[in-house]
Amino acid sequence: MTSAVDAVPAAEGPAGAEAVLELVAVRAGYGRIDVLHGIDLALRPGEVFALLGPNGAGKSTTLAVASGQITPSTGGVFICGRDVTGVSPDALARAGVCLIPEGRGIFPNLTVAENLRMATYTGPSYHHVLELAFAQFPRLGERRKQTAGTLSGGEQQMLSMARALATEPAVLLIDELSMGLAPIIVEELYDHVRRIAASGLSILIVEQFAHEILGLADRAGIMLHGRLLHTGPPASIAGELADAYLGADHAAPVVDSPQ
Ligand SMILES: Nc1ncnc2c1ncn2[C@@H]1O[C@H](COP(=O)(O)OP(=O)(O)O)[C@@H](O)[C@H]1O
Ligand SMILES: [Mg+2]
Repeated sequence: MTSAVDAVPAAEGPAGAEAVLELVAVRAGYGRIDVLHGIDLALRPGEVFALLGPNGAGKSTTLAVASGQITPSTGGVFICGRDVTGVSPDALARAGVCLIPEGRGIFPNLTVAENLRMATYTGPSYHHVLELAFAQFPRLGERRKQTAGTLSGGEQQMLSMARALATEPAVLLIDELSMGLAPIIVEELYDHVRRIAASGLSILIVEQFAHEILGLADRAGIMLHGRLLHTGPPASIAGELADAYLGADHAAPVVDSPQ
């Protein structure tokens, strides 16, 4: 923990230090309009939690709250039991919360190595960052001088992951890793997530459709209209998914067929 976060008075979330990251009764949104209507979510040490839900459900907003980009209008955010509500994204990043944003957040006109240099802002040396990144993703090492915009979609996502991991985070937040990528590429990226999870990192991963993510999640939850429904083991979630998507995507009321 950094001094910036240590300076915040300690106040335990309900899960206390049992959760590396916890959102408690979070309402949040944009301007005066809340799009999250009371989110309770506890990420336990070393677990992969898959947050699923249709477009517009509030998944990215949840990650924005978890990474300090949006301050909840009510409710709280806790890291290892410590209240970090309202703490800046910078301070949260230094405390080990790292977001891989939707759309990857890489700089297309910079080279692979230059993009990785961004990871040095939390403290590690450039040399260390490159060494770590290329050890985990050798393909990036081969392409270190290539501009990021000319990488394939899968390689760009690897770059985004490598940059995040180079900061040696405690909590990784991943927003729609699979977006716009072929299933075979997504599988490869999920293998990396599996490896990262095995190293003990706590991961909150957001996906819109991927049933596949349930295969590597310890727990999952379905988000709908700014509320988190059906949190539980992946097997218990799978059956609920279709209902959630049908309910969200079809505005017309469902009429029971006459029996
Ligand atoms: N920057 C923004 N300004 C205003 N409303 C937003 C903004 N970003 C998202 N929203 C709205 O918040 C709701 C939830 O969006 P989001 O969290 O992006 O959903 P998801 O990631 O699940 O697709 C949507 O209704 C969306 O239109
Ligand atoms: Mg989103």
